[in-house]
Amino acid sequence: MRHLTLLITLTILAQAAPFVPSKVCSKCHPAIYKEYMGSMHRNSSVFNDPVHKAVWDKHPLKTKQKYNCAVCHTPTDTKLIEAFKKGKPTLPQANRIQRDEPIGCATCHRIQSIRAHAQQNENIYSNKPKYYYAAKGGKTVKERVKFHEEPSFFGLFKKAKGSPFHTIDYTNRLFANGAVCLGCHDHKRNKQGLAICSMDRKGAEPSAKTNCVTCHMPQVSGSLSTITETKTHAYHGFAGLHVRPDLLAKHIALTIDAPKGKLRVTVKNQADHRLFSHPLRLAQLRVTIERQNKTVTLPPVNLFTVLGKNGRPAMPWVADTVLKQNGIGAKESRTFAFDFMPQKKDRITVTLGYYIVNPQSARKLGIKERGIKEFKVLKSKIFPY
Ligand code: HEC
Ligand code: HEC
Ligand code: HEC
Ligand code: HEC
Ligand code: HEC
Repeated sequence: MRHLTLLITLTILAQAAPFVPSKVCSKCHPAIYKEYMGSMHRNSSVFNDPVHKAVWDKHPLKTKQKYNCAVCHTPTDTKLIEAFKKGKPTLPQANRIQRDEPIGCATCHRIQSIRAHAQQNENIYSNKPKYYYAAKGGKTVKERVKFHEEPSFFGLFKKAKGSPFHTIDYTNRLFANGAVCLGCHDHKRNKQGLAICSMDRKGAEPSAKTNCVTCHMPQVSGSLSTITETKTHAYHGFAGLHVRPDLLAKHIALTIDAPKGKLRVTVKNQADHRLFSHPLRLAQLRVTIERQNKTVTLPPVNLFTVLGKNGRPAMPWVADTVLKQNGIGAKESRTFAFDFMPQKKDRITVTLGYYIVNPQSARKLGIKERGIKEFKVLKSKIFPY
């Protein structure tokens, strides 16, 4: 019995206190808030993301009323997560949190540490009120800043330092090296133990120089707050396949050659994770050639993942094997050979693009949104030959 009481107390302690609404942050961080409102972290609930909804609608846990997606897709909804942990029926309700901030400002900035597990990692949230973690100019420094005024200019003026609303803790390494993303983004296994999503990263921890934050949250113009003026701030729209893929193009290099007379295209992935890692995606490498007013289109190369069971494609919750996966790996450089002889004066266009949902799967899932079904360009380059 004593053990049981201890266990219950520990579970209660592990619960995250409610998160300050992101609307509050918007008062002093309007530029960041505006970007955030268009991001996939604002749109990660079944009410805002038609793709998440379509998969959830088919998921066997829906009829069991167990929305176990919440820890990653709607962690701000602490009531839902508490109910889930107590084994109560949980279906997301169309409340303010689900619509406006399923993964809110305070939610990310309260991640204190990450616990690694085989099934999926776990975010540990700090429960100190109005206490947020950050990096200082991309670096970890031994400093916690409470709002205070510092005398300056020989004591004639007082200069405000820090935020009048919250304490900032710059000591958390996760914010400087981007590892803060890995509580949700690293991997997810199903009941059969199959990793249905995995970034297949290279290296145990992201590097301090080039990492999730430097690539997906590059510095863009505009002040980080209305009180402390800065020229730039970290982009909070989170560049990805849904939002601003153009910001990611520079991390992919496309080159061509024809050593034996036949065309080859090389794709170099500079990211420390596999490209197009989500199993719903279909990526395509397309090549067209303009020769004397005629356009030749070569058969596209498809890059995708197929999960399966008993040798046949299966839904992620049923699958126990990866039947096929040919996406380009972390830091990999891959060369594709084409059955085509380029000639002088040819104009060769190489395009690496994608469908957010493989059109075949979109049909099965009944997804009709145009933006999801159409081919989008990640990077395109024209080579005069
Ligand atoms: C361990 C954390 C985690 C859990 C649990 C989780 N997801 Fe996700 N999910 C993610 C992350 C991270 C992404 C974004 C990955 C990407 O874009 O590559 C994602 C993306 C998706 C997408 C693609 C959405 C889009 O618009 O492209 C679907 C669909 C999805 N999840 C469905 C689910 C469902 C349904 C559940 C619950 C049964 C679930 N997920 C549980 C972390 C998780
Ligand atoms: C998905 C996680 C995540 C969400 C959601 C998020 N942030 Fe951030 N934020 C980060 C990371 C990571 C950084 C970069 C490291 C750093 O500077 O702390 C950052 C940086 C910042 C910075 C410093 C900017 C700079 O250029 O130095 C501010 C201010 C900030 N966030 C406020 C907010 C506000 C306000 C919101 C909601 C509108 C928000 N964040 C939502 C993860 C997040
Ligand atoms: C009353 C204004 C105000 C409100 C409200 C506010 N902040 Fe801030 N915040 C600031 C100021 C000012 C700074 C810059 C402090 C500095 O650089 O010395 C700051 C800095 C930050 C930083 C660190 C940026 C860096 O790299 O130095 C983060 C992260 C942050 N705020 C998150 C939040 C979140 C999350 C919320 C909402 C829960 C929020 N803030 C609400 C004024 C505010
Ligand atoms: C609390 C969990 C959580 C954390 C922490 C988190 N993410 Fe996400 N992220 C998600 C989920 C869930 C999605 C998928 C939303 C959807 O599509 O429905 C997502 C989507 C994204 C996308 C959009 C992918 C696409 O295909 O467009 C990018 C980019 C992204 N996250 C980057 C980051 C980065 C960078 C960090 C760290 C600074 C981070 N995330 C931290 C849960 C999280
Ligand atoms: C060198 C730059 C770079 C780094 C570092 C990097 N990424 Fe990416 N990331 C990319 C590029 C380019 C893409 C677009 C192609 C793609 O979707 O895979 C991408 C795509 C993504 C996607 C969307 C994948 C999908 O299928 O929807 C997510 C989510 C993501 N990255 C998260 C992260 C996280 C988390 C980290 C840190 C562990 C990280 N990235 C580190 C460049 C980078």
